[in-house]
Amino acid sequence: MLNNKVSVVYGAGGAIGGAVARAFAREGAKLFLTGHHRAPVEEVTKDIVGAGGSAEAAEVNALDEPALDNHLQSVIDKAGRVDISFNAVGIPDTKIVGVPLVELDVEQFSLPITAYATSYFLTARLAARRMVANKSGVIMTVTALLSRTGAPLVGGYGPAMATKEALTRNLSAELAPHGIRVVGLRPQAMPETSTIKEAFEPRAKATGMTWEQWQQLLASRTHPRRLMTLAEMADVAVFMASDKASAMTGTTVNLTMGSLDD
Ligand SMILES: NC(=O)c1ccc[n+]([C@@H]2O[C@H](COP(=O)([O-])OP(=O)(O)OC[C@H]3O[C@@H](n4cnc5c(N)ncnc54)[C@H](OP(=O)(O)O)[C@@H]3O)[C@@H](O)[C@H]2O)c1
Repeated sequence: MLNNKVSVVYGAGGAIGGAVARAFAREGAKLFLTGHHRAPVEEVTKDIVGAGGSAEAAEVNALDEPALDNHLQSVIDKAGRVDISFNAVGIPDTKIVGVPLVELDVEQFSLPITAYATSYFLTARLAARRMVANKSGVIMTVTALLSRTGAPLVGGYGPAMATKEALTRNLSAELAPHGIRVVGLRPQAMPETSTIKEAFEPRAKATGMTWEQWQQLLASRTHPRRLMTLAEMADVAVFMASDKASAMTGTTVNLTMGSLDD
């Protein structure tokens, strides 16, 4: 589905970035994988190359515009173009969640809003500038259910996710006339990822629940009464990145399994 599509993944050493990169590679994409620590990105790259795919690793801070620009230019120099830009960057939740809003200091509140929005803006804008020349490309990112639902003890995380979804709509409004699609994914929690445990354990503890009870609570809010796998999320990412999804732009795919009504 993604044969020879030149794809850059930011935060590729993470749970979602790694799963998306592996799924893109299985569908024939050429991967340029980045993260601000090299080792986890190298691990994903080795897996892909070992399975016969095409991938290169680079250490790039997704908040550093010159570093992002240099890396993307090196991709263009090697591969001739960029077809897909996927921002899967995640800011550690331990710095963000678990404190009531009335006790939260302004820096801690602003941190996720600034970091998530800036990283998505920079990676999207730099890709769009290259994609416009080819009149083709797909810009993607990940958000979460808290973009659209109220929850206690999540600090600036919900506003950060809502900001990214607004940016997806606005980028699409400007870029779709140039042949560039902009699509987000809003997955339900995937318990196999360490991030989700780190994000929810403090909230579970604060409400007197165990992590297992918390997972059951989340699952009970979905229509199939279960949580999602990384593989299920990555399959949707592949479809959305492919030409089969040519009508999808300016939207965030609701992968909350019924937890959140449209
Ligand atoms: N996991 C889930 O179930 C789930 C569900 C819904 C939404 N989400 C959201 O999806 C996003 C990604 O989640 P995830 O589970 O994949 O998180 P993750 O495993 O922590 O991955 C995030 C990646 O981003 C990298 N990163 C952080 N800051 C960076 C920077 N400045 N430059 C480059 N890379 C940077 C991290 O690198 P290092 O590890 O080297 O620091 C890590 O590889 C988050 O916003 C998360 O809240 C996750």
